[in-house]
Amino acid sequence: MITIVVGTNRKDSVSFKVALHYAEVLKAKNITNSILNLRELPEDYIISALYENIGKNEQFNKIRDRMNKSEKFVFVVPEYNGSFPGILKAFIDGLDRAKALADKKCALVGLSAGDQGAGLALSHFTDILNYCGTNVLAYRLRLPKIGDSMTDSKITNQLYVSKIHNQAQKLIEF
Ligand SMILES: Cc1cc2nc3c(=O)[nH]c(=O)nc-3n(C[C@H](O)[C@H](O)[C@H](O)COP(=O)(O)O)c2cc1C
Repeated sequence: MITIVVGTNRKDSVSFKVALHYAEVLKAKNITNSILNLRELPEDYIISALYENIGKNEQFNKIRDRMNKSEKFVFVVPEYNGSFPGILKAFIDGLDRAKALADKKCALVGLSAGDQGAGLALSHFTDILNYCGTNVLAYRLRLPKIGDSMTDSKITNQLYVSKIHNQAQKLIEF
């Protein structure tokens, strides 16, 4: 089971559209997968589910369970102010590191409106995942100028399509 984490809680995010595409690619390869959009986090997540409140928010407990049960992950990470979104770090901070992340495997996809494709964001996030014991696939995808590469919410840039296909295959074999 591969969980595709949408690394932002922004409404109508492009990251979610990229996750939908990735899910179809995995499905075509007969790999069971599900999308976990950070938009599903409780609205009061920061104050009701972290630190002294860990375990007390039933809505978030279900999300933690999904992460604990998943064998591999794809994190779709948009570039926000030169790094990854703060909500993604807050999400990681609410997990049980040993059960959710340690000794698991993941692939990273970065996207941006600009020409960096979240390269720095992926490096920052890799450091954190490695600290948590997660093995990150070396083939990290950067999708710069994502707006120019989509039509009607679908990825139409064939180079991106083929890179996602290649990364998904590597993640399956990882
Ligand atoms: C708070 C915020 C900060 C952003 N910072 C950057 C940035 O530093 N560089 C960049 O190229 N795009 C930046 N963007 C644009 C996003 O990379 C772009 O919207 C992209 O579609 C992915 O984000 P999304 O999944 O929220 O749609 C930013 C967007 C937001 C909402």
